[in-house]
Parts: sequence; structure tokens; C-alpha cells
Amino acid sequence: MINFIYLILTIYRMVKYLVSDTKRYSNILLLIFFYRPKSIVEIGVYKGGRSKEMIQAAKIFNKNIEYFGFDLFEMINKKIQKKELSKIPFSKKDIQNRLSKYAKIKLFKGYTTKTLSKLKNKKVDFIFIDGGHKLSTIKNDWIKSKKFQKKNTIIVFDDYYLHNKKIIKNFGCNLIVNTIPRNEYSKKFCYFTDKFTHLKQRLNIKMVFLKKLRND
Ligand SMILES: C[S@@+](CC[C@H](N)C(=O)[O-])C[C@H]1O[C@@H](n2cnc3c(N)ncnc32)[C@H](O)[C@@H]1O
Repeated sequence: MINFIYLILTIYRMVKYLVSDTKRYSNILLLIFFYRPKSIVEIGVYKGGRSKEMIQAAKIFNKNIEYFGFDLFEMINKKIQKKELSKIPFSKKDIQNRLSKYAKIKLFKGYTTKTLSKLKNKKVDFIFIDGGHKLSTIKNDWIKSKKFQKKNTIIVFDDYYLHNKKIIKNFGCNLIVNTIPRNEYSKKFCYFTDKFTHLKQRLNIKMVFLKKLRND
């Protein structure tokens, strides 16, 4: 049965994003609305806002949602923040309190180089890769997230930079996404793009989504 409260809330959020300068987040809600995942992995939880929105969008069609979140949480500091071009998240406990009323939640604290291997024997329907922005971190997150994938898993990458050859050498998912084979995944750009300035650089930023074509 459809949950109309979450349906209205999700439509409201999509419209809110579309009239804001972070339009690309409406892509995530559209994808969840379309593919109806029952299990979600989010790499990079931050303040849990998107996590809550993704869970509630997924709950339009399914009552019981499983959510797995990976972040440094209180382990982050200014140095890491700069290295990862990142933001300062809430604590693990805070996020656990915020999200556990909506879904079955499991959170993993620490560097994803270590934590992604702690979730064992789990295949999920939807993966959002939005943790550290350093190229090596995104590469690690992509490779390690493969073990959560099965046929038809949707994987969304944030931070695909357009028209900026300099930044993609060190940050963003361009160099990873561009080498993912098309015979293993269907690959599409999400429609809505954002433009903003970071460290005096003008950035056009897109999300990319993949669908795994078969089981390994
Ligand atoms: C861009 S924010 C995530 C935003 C969130 N997905 C959203 O849509 O609201 C990136 C998050 O990744 C975390 N992070 C950065 N580098 C990390 C790493 N190497 N391992 C684990 N988490 C990391 C940061 O603490 C931060 O909360």
C-alpha cells in the first residue's frame, strides 16, 4: 500500500530542491521513487538529512527499510576535512537517534578504507557514494561497494565535475565513472545539475547513476 504522507513529503522535497541551488538532490529522490529500494547504503552520512529523505521516499512503497550509513562521524577534524574537500558531520549517536525511528539503521564509524569491509554478506538495492571527495577515497568506496551489489542494484555517484580538467585529477568521481565498463553497468547522467564556486573555482556538478546488469 502507498504511504501518502511520505509521497506528499517527497514531492514537496523534490520541488523544494528544484527551486533551490542544490537541484541535483531531487535526482536522488526521483531515483528512489522510480526504483523503490528496500535497502540503502549511504557512504557519507553528514547530518543525516538526505538519509532521512531517502528512507522516507523508499517508505512510500515499502514499510520496512534497511539503511547502512558510513562516515567518519566524530573522527573528522579540520585537516581531514580539507584533504577530503568535506563537511563536518554530526556524531554517530546523534544520527542513530535521528534515523532509527524511520528504519532499521546500522552505522559504521571510521575511514571507509576500513569500515566498508565490516558490513558482510549483504547485497542492497541502492548505494549512494557521497563520502570523501578525494579521488583515491572515491575509488576505494566504489571498489569496496561492489560486494554490496547484485543484479539491478542502483549506484549513484555525486560529484561528477563538468568543464574542469584540473579538479578531476584529484577530486570527484569522473576518472572512476569514465572507466566503468558499459557491458557490466548501464550508466546515465542524472538530469539536474548544480553550479557553485569552491576555492575560487567555478564548478558544474552532476550526479551519475549506474545499474548493475547482472549478478557476479
Ligand atoms: C558530502 S558529505 C555527505 C553528504 C550526505 N550524503 C548528504 O547528501 O547530505 C561527506 C561526508 O563524508 C564523510 N567522509 C569524508 N571522508 C571520509 C572517509 N575517508 N571515510 C568516511 N567518511 C568520510 C564526511 O565526514 C562527511 O560527513
